[in-house]
Amino acid sequence: MKIIKAKTYKDMSRKAANIISAQVIMKPNCVLGLATGSTPIGLYEQLIDWYQKGDIDFSEVTTINLDEYRGLSGDNPQSYRYFMDEHFFKHINIRPENINVPDGTNLDVQAECTRYDHLIMDKGGIDLQLLGIGNNGHIGFNEPDSAFELGTHCIDLLESTIEANARFFENEDEVPRQAYTMGIKTIMQAHKVLMIANGKNKAAILKEAFLGPVTPRVPASILQMHPDFTLIGDEEAMSEMNL
Ligand code: F6R
Repeated sequence: MKIIKAKTYKDMSRKAANIISAQVIMKPNCVLGLATGSTPIGLYEQLIDWYQKGDIDFSEVTTINLDEYRGLSGDNPQSYRYFMDEHFFKHINIRPENINVPDGTNLDVQAECTRYDHLIMDKGGIDLQLLGIGNNGHIGFNEPDSAFELGTHCIDLLESTIEANARFFENEDEVPRQAYTMGIKTIMQAHKVLMIANGKNKAAILKEAFLGPVTPRVPASILQMHPDFTLIGDEEAMSEMNL
């Protein structure tokens, strides 16, 4: 586990963008696992900036997103697919056919989960998986539980996650109650995993996840076992890590 302390959100975003950029330069046809949320917005902005300056080329890259709300289509502004289009995909030269997000409109849980797992296998797995972390230690939508869920699955969102996500919706009632998420095994099989975290509200969970025991009660803690895991946090997020 490598832990990199960044000064600010911008510094965290640039450092993480450098790692993704290096991955794309070293392997232009790589498979990137991507995340949504507030944390990676600055990182995507940085990558867009480098793309516009001609420093990075996404024409051969494949992306596989972590999760999507069940029931929302990609043109719904609250969907994760829409978020990715707005914050990243429509600003770079990725081929539309190389973009993969769970299909929220496929309500057949078994069919969608199997499709997504096969897709990841067919692409040869994930070269670099980007992650944020929930206040409760979730990664993707792998919520605290008594066991680690391995493959893509459909979850009922916890009340704490619904509350945390309500800021993106008109009101809490509009937050979907279920989501498709890549499982822990798939995340652990990525060749490299990069987590970014910023802000005071992530300080306690980072300490618990990476200085505490490995447990499905704190899903991110499993990353302690990953052979190539890097955490980049800003000063506030790292404030309880005693580094
Ligand atoms: C998003 C995802 C989530 C977020 C986490 C942190 O695709 O999988 O696990 O990474 O909820 O969200 P933010 O970045 O909004 O604090």
